[in-house]
Amino acid sequence: MSTPGPEQDVIICRCERVTLGALMRARRDFEVSSGRELKLATRASMGICQGRVCHASLEALYARWFPPGRDVARPRTPARAVPFGVLRALAGEDADE
Ligand code: FES
Repeated sequence: MSTPGPEQDVIICRCERVTLGALMRARRDFEVSSGRELKLATRASMGICQGRVCHASLEALYARWFPPGRDVARPRTPARAVPFGVLRALAGEDADE
């Protein structure tokens, strides 16, 4: 068994504050077998940027940890609630109609 090193404190996913150590522990403790399972176990890439910042780092880790062809967590377009008034203004409609 290896001793934890300072690299374990490296933050991989800033939005969800998931460290390399947390990913390694989740992989070991939950015996995950894919990037998707690791994502669900740690919330890595589920933050406000939806993986746009951390995806490359996670994909590099997944490539080392999981066999090729395993499902990979993909970044998603960040979604945010938009008031109807903004949509109406974009459509050129008057808000009083
Ligand atoms: S840095 Fe991972 S979801 Fe934003």
